[in-house]
Amino acid sequence: MPKTVVLVYSGGLDTSVCIPMMRENYGFERIVTVTVDVGQPDEDVKSAEDRARALGCEHYTADAKQEFITDYCWPAVKANGDYQGYPLSTAIARPLIGLKAVEAAKQVGADAFCHGCTGKGNDQFRIEYVMRALLPDTPIIAPMREHSYTRTEEIQYAQEKNIPISVTADKIWSIDENLWGRSIEGGHLEEPNYAPPEEIYQWTRGIDAANPTPQALTIGFEHGVPVSLDGERLEPLALVQKLMTIAGDNGVGRVDIMEDRLLGLKVRENYECPASTVLIKAHAALEALVATAAERKFKAMVDQQWGELAYYGLWFDPLKEDLEAFINRIQRRVTGTVTLRLFKGSCVVTGRASDWALYNEDLASFDSKTFDQSLSVGNVQTHGMQSRMYWQLKEKQDKG
Ligand code: ARG
Repeated sequence: MPKTVVLVYSGGLDTSVCIPMMRENYGFERIVTVTVDVGQPDEDVKSAEDRARALGCEHYTADAKQEFITDYCWPAVKANGDYQGYPLSTAIARPLIGLKAVEAAKQVGADAFCHGCTGKGNDQFRIEYVMRALLPDTPIIAPMREHSYTRTEEIQYAQEKNIPISVTADKIWSIDENLWGRSIEGGHLEEPNYAPPEEIYQWTRGIDAANPTPQALTIGFEHGVPVSLDGERLEPLALVQKLMTIAGDNGVGRVDIMEDRLLGLKVRENYECPASTVLIKAHAALEALVATAAERKFKAMVDQQWGELAYYGLWFDPLKEDLEAFINRIQRRVTGTVTLRLFKGSCVVTGRASDWALYNEDLASFDSKTFDQSLSVGNVQTHGMQSRMYWQLKEKQDKG
């Protein structure tokens, strides 16, 4: 059997450089490249295929778009998936990419895995965790981490090895795209005080170019899962794709945050997450209508914990399963519609409706007589009893 390595392959510079290195520095004879289609541009998937074959690899493309939405994005919606303001787009795609690499490795009988992650980012944690969880005995090689090339050195090496790369020294953005969002890094973008140039955005229009009139949009949910746009029932992939365009045209979904990476590095990150931003906002609004006050308070903690696990890439962690048991239980009531108004970058909820709404017009309305207001008197008098006692004691102590 030839010495075989499975390379997680995007077709970009880092992973392309890994190919000659696997042969020359690590002695692999058979290189199996795996590209996972999670909704990056079709040209990228196609050029990864062509490039891998041109560089003498055996290539597999896994079309995982459907699976990505139903098994990764929908759980993220149910958990209002967020980490420091980031809808976790790259983060939730990594376990699926790892999973597809594991499937390929089992099929071809791989002796090792290779990935192109650097030693600074989060992806090394996410991808290696999945590989180790599912194929613990297969070694993992990370040439970019071992050699820590600068971008210029890498480009030079690629040119020496005749790797047909489209990156040039002045095209500096490092981009990661999938149906849940687009991340743009590189150049000065990680500096906290650098205003990102308009050219980094591809999916969302800026204020000037955005749709000039407000657009109303109604999203239907069943058990926490988005099922329709403006009353039209859509398959998951079609729904997300359509929403990406609508939200993007209205400039909705740009995210510019300070992000604390796994290793503690604090970096400025830029994303465009049109579909995920709208869906999570709408979902949270519907949950707020159907969940009790205590459920909402508790779920906020559960969601926060879920978001952290997803960010860390611990997709198969038992705690995540436990949290999802709770999350899914609540979702039984998260059925209904949410209406939003999208306009020049803003996305505002303007209405929500559900058969499970814990809202009663009669009780909440100011005009109604159903709610006997005199019943509040005793409640108000005992409100904050211990807190008031503390103030009395404090006054006494201060005087004495
Ligand atoms: N900081 C984000 C994360 O860790 C996105 C990283 C995306 N990578 C990129 N080359 N743009 O999830």
